Amino acid sequence: MDTPMPMSSPVHRRGFSLIATAVLAASLSACGGSAPPAEETTRNPAVGMAKIGLIVPLSGVYSSLGIDMQNGFDLYLDQHAGRLGGKDVELKVVDEGEGPQTGVPAATKLIKEDKVAAVVGIVNSATAMGVRDTFIDSKTPLIIANAGADGVTGTNGSPYIWRTSFTNGTVGASLGAEVSKQVGDGSVYLISADYSAGKEMIGGFKKAFEAAGGKVAGESYTPFGTTKDFQPYLDTIKASGAKAVFCFYAGAEAVSFVKQYAQFGLAGDLPLFGTGFVTEGGALDAEGISAEGTQTSLHYTDLIDTPKNKKFVADYQAAFNARPTVYAVQAYDAAAVLDAALARPGTADGRGIARALGEIGPIDSPRGSWGFGRKHDPVQPYYLRKVEKRGGRFVNTLVRELTRAKAPDL
Ligand code: BEZ
Repeated sequence: MDTPMPMSSPVHRRGFSLIATAVLAASLSACGGSAPPAEETTRNPAVGMAKIGLIVPLSGVYSSLGIDMQNGFDLYLDQHAGRLGGKDVELKVVDEGEGPQTGVPAATKLIKEDKVAAVVGIVNSATAMGVRDTFIDSKTPLIIANAGADGVTGTNGSPYIWRTSFTNGTVGASLGAEVSKQVGDGSVYLISADYSAGKEMIGGFKKAFEAAGGKVAGESYTPFGTTKDFQPYLDTIKASGAKAVFCFYAGAEAVSFVKQYAQFGLAGDLPLFGTGFVTEGGALDAEGISAEGTQTSLHYTDLIDTPKNKKFVADYQAAFNARPTVYAVQAYDAAAVLDAALARPGTADGRGIARALGEIGPIDSPRGSWGFGRKHDPVQPYYLRKVEKRGGRFVNTLVRELTRAKAPDL
């Protein structure tokens, strides 16, 4: 691994049987992770090798998302003998950090120094926009496993840019009509982290919400990664006369916002809605009762009641002693699409891999079956989720399917 795991990382990695195991072993002992697996195998020169880059935040406000993504990717490899498309994987992991200042050089290193065949990852929309052209110019396929920047797949799509996650505008829009219905004549206040992802999620929500007759009471954007005290914004919301709030926050920022929303007494009066990142995974564990009743939209909850998801949840829990998140699924599915692409003939270089990515069929995922649209964004359903206490812990219950979302370009 190129970037050491943070010492305080809660990751409990079950090692997997591939070349990267040797690299991981150092970080496992450094971060107190689990011992290498009993089923570890050695590299087989007959099967060939694929050098793959993984870029996720291992530091900053989104580090918990990055750990979940690395866990999801590792789990897929572990279940597939450390191979993708029948080739032994040499995994190069770099730290995306909090934004483009750290993410762009890290991605560039994977392409230029490590000369990987393809890259998976990227959480932050601004980072994704910052690295897009480098991938296209170098003909290196990038499979974005989180960042939702609407423009990153371009106007017509690029052969080298693929996404297993969502687009910001689409996930925001999926909740618009539902909130309008629930709030009726009242107005809704919009609040988000101040960067491209938040603006696009709020923009997508607002368009769909207003089209369904909803009224906006006001909008606030809080400095990304540095806002510790939300009280001035909560004061403004209270004074606005809004009847509900829609938000975008993720990771550590989601925890601060949701806890202060409850501490300030808003949770009892103004129902909180948002894109599902605000109550996902470790964020929800930390928010606890503060998040109770929050309604969100997302393309995954670990409670999806299918054999595929139940097995995924059980395997993930056994490996990492935690429930999987949307971030883990998006990375798990990125490994699955690379597996299917690399199994095809003519995938010795970036051009061949990019072509093969366009030839794979629907992906049978823990989230349900989904496929790539015209611009290489996922076509998938979005679910209404509500935070409830079940079996002593807070979970995102699946209320119903909101929309079999079609991005405007599909
Ligand atoms: C984004 O920057 O695109 C993003 C980050 C965290 C959660 C969801 C989206």
